[in-house]
Amino acid sequence: MSWKAACPVSDVKQDTLKECTIDGIEILLANVGDGFRAYPPVCPHMEQYLEGSGICANNVMTCDRHLWQWDMKTGEPLGPAEKPLLIYQTKEVNGQLMVFLDEELEYDFDDDDD
Ligand code: FES
Repeated sequence: MSWKAACPVSDVKQDTLKECTIDGIEILLANVGDGFRAYPPVCPHMEQYLEGSGICANNVMTCDRHLWQWDMKTGEPLGPAEKPLLIYQTKEVNGQLMVFLDEELEYDFDDDDD
């Protein structure tokens, strides 16, 4: 696979999340102010779709289901979150947000017990 066009960068506003599908792979896009990030679409805790349950403010994303939080730039967990967000590489080319899809990034939910 390779770099794929997701959408115009102007479609991804800061402190909002935008889901898109590229070659059958669901991607969650975010604007972190000085760039963009692309994540798998679901919460790494219990697969909640973050486009609906993710709240973004000051580059911190909070899943409203159990309040796990992450640094949106690095994907690192904050507070009670136990898993990081996985992140695809992104770049901007001629106003288009591009995502590098080498493989679909997926969370391992086997070790969740609640
Ligand atoms: S499902 Fe997102 S924090 Fe639990």
